[in-house]
Amino acid sequence: MVKTILFILHGFLALSAVLCAKVTVGGKDFTLISRYASRENVLEIDEFDYFVSVVPNTWTGADNECRFFFGENATLVAIESVEEWNFLKIKLENFGSLYWTGGMYNPQISAFVWSAHNLPLPPFAPWDQGHPAPNPNALHRVSIAHWSRHQAFWRTAAYTESIPYICEVQRATQPVDCYSENDLIIVLDSSGSIGAANYTTALSFVDRLASAFTVHEPSRLSFIIFSDIAQLQISLTNSYTREFISRTILATQYLDSGTSTWLGIDKAIEQFDLSPRDVPLNMVILTDGMSNDGDLTVAAAQRAVTRGIRMFSVGITDATNPAELLTLAGGVRDRVFSSETFDDLVNLLAPVSITVCTKN
Ligand SMILES: *[C@@H]1O[C@H](CO)[C@@H](O)[C@H](O)[C@H]1NC(C)=O
Ligand SMILES: *[C@@H]1O[C@H](CO)[C@@H](O)[C@H](O)[C@H]1NC(C)=O
Repeated sequence: MVKTILFILHGFLALSAVLCAKVTVGGKDFTLISRYASRENVLEIDEFDYFVSVVPNTWTGADNECRFFFGENATLVAIESVEEWNFLKIKLENFGSLYWTGGMYNPQISAFVWSAHNLPLPPFAPWDQGHPAPNPNALHRVSIAHWSRHQAFWRTAAYTESIPYICEVQRATQPVDCYSENDLIIVLDSSGSIGAANYTTALSFVDRLASAFTVHEPSRLSFIIFSDIAQLQISLTNSYTREFISRTILATQYLDSGTSTWLGIDKAIEQFDLSPRDVPLNMVILTDGMSNDGDLTVAAAQRAVTRGIRMFSVGITDATNPAELLTLAGGVRDRVFSSETFDDLVNLLAPVSITVCTKN
C-alpha cells in the first residue's frame, strides 16, 4: 500500500521540482514534500522525500513510525547540507513550530550525530540560544524550533518529549557529506577495458563522492588515475574550490591502456608522504578488472596498509577479481564494494561515503 502511494506520487513528481501532497499511510496523515535536484554536468538526479507528521510523538515513537510507515531506509530527517536546511525552512512554514529530527547525542564520540548513519551534525548547525545543552547525555535528541523561514533553530530536548516529526526516505543514490576531518585520495582505473562512455560514468561517481569530502574545509582531497602510468589529477590539498575540483575531475582524460594498479597506489602513498598529517588517511580505489601484475599490486597495497592508510576498493562489473579487491581494501571485508554495472555505481555513493567517513 505504501509502495503504491509512493509510486503514483513519483509519476507526478517527474513533472515538477517540488511537490507537497497529503498522504494517508496506515491510517495516519502525513504531508509529503519532495524535491528533485539535478547537478550541473551530471545525468543523475537526486531525489529527496520528506514526510511531515503533525501528530506528536516521543523521539523513539517517531523514529519507529518512520520505519514502520516508510520502510527500512526511512529515518527521522538528517539535515546534511545548508541547501537542505534552507529548503526545509521554507517548506515547514505552514505546519507548526516544533519537530523531531534524527539528531542524537552519542556519548562514545562526545558529539551529536544523525541517527541515520551515526555521522556528526554539520558545523553550520543553527543552534538556538542556550543550545546544545551544556552537558549533553545519551537521552538528548535534536529538535527544530521553527517560527518562520527566517527564524528557525535547532535545540536539544529529552527524547521523552512529544512533538511532531519529519521522516526522510534515504536515497542510496546520493553521497552523505562528511564533516569529520580526514584526507582522501580517490584512485581511478583508466584502462582500455572500461570504454569511453563508462569512463564518463565513473568520473561522475568520483565527482559526486569527492563532493561529500570537500564540503568540510579542513579535509583534503586528491585524485589520481592509472593505466600503464599513474597520473596525478588533483594534488592532496584543501586549497582548491569545490567548483574547480568538480570541473577537473569531470574533464579528466581517458588513458585507455593497461592496468598497472600498483602505480596508482604508489602515487597515492607519495601524496600522503609529501604532506603527512595526523588525521585518518583514506584511499578509495575504483577498478573494472584485474591488475596486470598481481604480485606488484599486493606489495603496493601492503605498503599502503603499513603506512597506516585506510584502504577501500570499489569493483565494477564481474570482471573484477574478489581476492584482489579484498587485497586492495587492506584485507578488510567491510571496505570492499562492488557494482555489477557502471550505471549501478550510484547505489554505492551513500555506502562508500558513510564507510570512509566513519572513524574506525
Ligand atoms: C534500502 O537500502 C539498501 C541499501 O542501499 C537497498 O539495497 C535496499 O533495496 C533499500 N530498501 C528499500 C525498501 O528501498
Ligand atoms: C559499459 O559497461 C557495461 C557494464 O556495466 C558493459 O556491458 C558495456 O559493454 C560497457 N560499454 C562499453 C562501450 O564498453
